[in-house]
Amino acid sequence: MTTNILLLGADGQVGWELRRSLLSVGKVSAITRQDCSLTDRTAVTALIASHQPDIIVNAAAYTAVDLAESESQQAYALNRDLPALLGELARQRDILVVDYSTDYVFDGSKSAPYFEHDETAPANIYGASKLAGLQALQACGCRHLVFRVSWVYSARRGNFIKTILRLAAERDALSIVSDQIGSPTPASLIADVSANCLRLLAAGIGQAGVYHLAPAGQTSWHGLAQEIVGHAQTLNMPLKIKPEDIKPTPTSGYPTPAQRPANSVMNTDKLQRTFQLQLPHWQEPLAHLLQEISESRS
Ligand SMILES: NC(=O)c1ccc[n+]([C@@H]2O[C@H](COP(=O)([O-])OP(=O)(O)OC[C@H]3O[C@@H](n4cnc5c(N)ncnc54)[C@H](OP(=O)(O)O)[C@@H]3O)[C@@H](O)[C@H]2O)c1
Repeated sequence: MTTNILLLGADGQVGWELRRSLLSVGKVSAITRQDCSLTDRTAVTALIASHQPDIIVNAAAYTAVDLAESESQQAYALNRDLPALLGELARQRDILVVDYSTDYVFDGSKSAPYFEHDETAPANIYGASKLAGLQALQACGCRHLVFRVSWVYSARRGNFIKTILRLAAERDALSIVSDQIGSPTPASLIADVSANCLRLLAAGIGQAGVYHLAPAGQTSWHGLAQEIVGHAQTLNMPLKIKPEDIKPTPTSGYPTPAQRPANSVMNTDKLQRTFQLQLPHWQEPLAHLLQEISESRS
């Protein structure tokens, strides 16, 4: 019997990659903002009633971290109220819900990678709204598979990688924050691991639950910017600067409306053990993406 998958947020970084990867799991109905406003409870309820999915994959979220400080209502509407509604509908109909959480549920004060069971203490509205969404989903008692991800990038939409490539082509020098560390994570890896875990679950391997998902290794935003420019150089991309022209700056030198955790590194042992996966080092998929961007520009 074909597995029916309802994919929400199908035009986002992760959602776009899921359109491809979920084809290996079942029939995918990809829903974008044009198809359904996900803050409209009646519309969401009707969507699920008409599609009758076996799995809902929710890649939609309010992800504007700084704007969320002044638009908390919109952030909570999507990041808390939507998972709460999906969880309630899923429990009634025995649907599996896949959702995505964030490293920003932690305050970043730990000096080692975060485990799934570590205490949460979001430092900003975005993180607090995402945590409220996860707690709502858990409270519903529906079957759920939640991946906590961090520092997401892809070839689509605005993100740090694309911003650095643009700035490196325009400016003679850059200053980038060096005291926040994390693991840059390609949307394609998140999508592939999600699909892989769903296939394994269907085969009776592993369990639903909350898992940290990030590549191996860690870096700072400054280290990431240097890696991007250094690798882009080897691909002969048009740049005005070299890695050594990128200067480290403390977070205090780059004030933003939302506070960000100093340590965003997550321990992924639970995911790798449960689903028998080996995650790549963060530099490998970054190199692939830069190659892809370079080829698309030539
Ligand atoms: N980006 C990161 O660095 C990061 C880090 C940690 C965790 N995460 C989590 O990972 C997941 C995927 O993130 P992402 O980077 O792929 O996000 P994204 O690129 O911002 O995509 C979010 C999607 O949600 C859709 N959406 C937002 N509000 C909507 C509404 N009211 N009705 C319908 N659709 C709506 C957007 O539609 P439009 O295309 O029309 O805007 C967009 O397609 C999210 O749960 C996010 O919280 C992301």
